[in-house]
Amino acid sequence: MPLGGGVKGRVCVTGASGFLASWLIKRLLMSGYDVTATVRDLRDERKFEHLRKLEGAKERLRLVKADLMAEGSFDDAIMGCSGVFHTASPVLKPSSNPKEEILKPAIEGTVNVLRSCAKNKSLRRVVLTSSSSAVRVREDIDPNIPLDDSSWSSIQLCEELEIWYSLSKTLAEKAAWDFCAHNAIHLITVLPSFIIGPSLPPQLCSTASDVLGLLQGETEKFGWHGRMGYVHIDDVALCHILVYENEAACGRYLCSSTVLDNHELAALLATRFPWLPIPTRFEKHGDRPSYELNTSKIRNLGFKFRSIQEMFDDCVLSLEQQGHLPPRPSNITST
Ligand SMILES: NC(=O)c1ccc[n+]([C@@H]2O[C@H](COP(=O)([O-])OP(=O)(O)OC[C@H]3O[C@@H](n4cnc5c(N)ncnc54)[C@H](OP(=O)(O)O)[C@@H]3O)[C@@H](O)[C@H]2O)c1
Repeated sequence: MPLGGGVKGRVCVTGASGFLASWLIKRLLMSGYDVTATVRDLRDERKFEHLRKLEGAKERLRLVKADLMAEGSFDDAIMGCSGVFHTASPVLKPSSNPKEEILKPAIEGTVNVLRSCAKNKSLRRVVLTSSSSAVRVREDIDPNIPLDDSSWSSIQLCEELEIWYSLSKTLAEKAAWDFCAHNAIHLITVLPSFIIGPSLPPQLCSTASDVLGLLQGETEKFGWHGRMGYVHIDDVALCHILVYENEAACGRYLCSSTVLDNHELAALLATRFPWLPIPTRFEKHGDRPSYELNTSKIRNLGFKFRSIQEMFDDCVLSLEQQGHLPPRPSNITST
């Protein structure tokens, strides 16, 4: 059967095997799009077999091999698409060679994807997944003025503190704005805070593993997160689609529901999930200024974020269903 027939046209999603991209593809298929999704290795079926099971996938999902570090790799996937959602980027893994493993794929990979976009005459918009970490790593934060979409993380501070992930997201987003300005590409960036929710890929990505660790009583990985914004994975996917579809959308969009210190989050989780060994104390990692996030720009497009309770309820339930957490005690049916 030929692929196609969606009512909304064809879009491309990069990094399709990922936590966020998988959910975004699910939402795009549900909305009636034809989706071309890129993966690094088409032979590694276990990384993307969950995508083939999505509603509409059989008729409207096409999988294409592409690597961020291979020049022209995205040409075939992007050609003929009206939209591109670029999510692929190395996420948070510790690295002994951050330049090669984190910075290069993020920055050069983004430009590589955009070069393919520039060749595509049918392109309407590109939506790039950036991160709140491209906004909040700076020294000059006034705790009384929430950071908004105009804020950029300090390159110098990221380098000094060796926060390679934040540096990669900041430099990749800057490179994208620069390339798109010179090549008349309509770019919109979405900047999610820490994403929480059910994982469609059965193998947990690095952030979802950190959350699992916290729910299992580990303090180490979550300790250094300190103060953090949180957002439901479905909200992040819906924000991407909203800014793609809404004619008035432009620029950067912070995408976050609630900002909490790690001890505030742990207290909330301990009350909500009393059968889990949530830690109560975290080691302090450095003295960074407190901050809030101003998300009025995306809210002004009519978007409403789910609560922190809802995102963790959905996350814990799915971790139980996937066998990452033991079943909850039989006297507790729902939170
Ligand atoms: N998770 C969060 O809390 C969070 C918050 C803010 C922003 N974000 C952003 O959201 C996006 C998706 O993150 P995620 O949480 O879904 O992480 P993820 O599950 O690790 O997904 C990352 C994706 O990028 C792909 N990728 C990495 N290096 C690549 C390369 N050289 N060539 C092709 N593909 C490559 C990975 O492919 P493989 O499977 O082959 O490695 C994977 O599909 C990223 O841009 C991230 O910065 C995430």
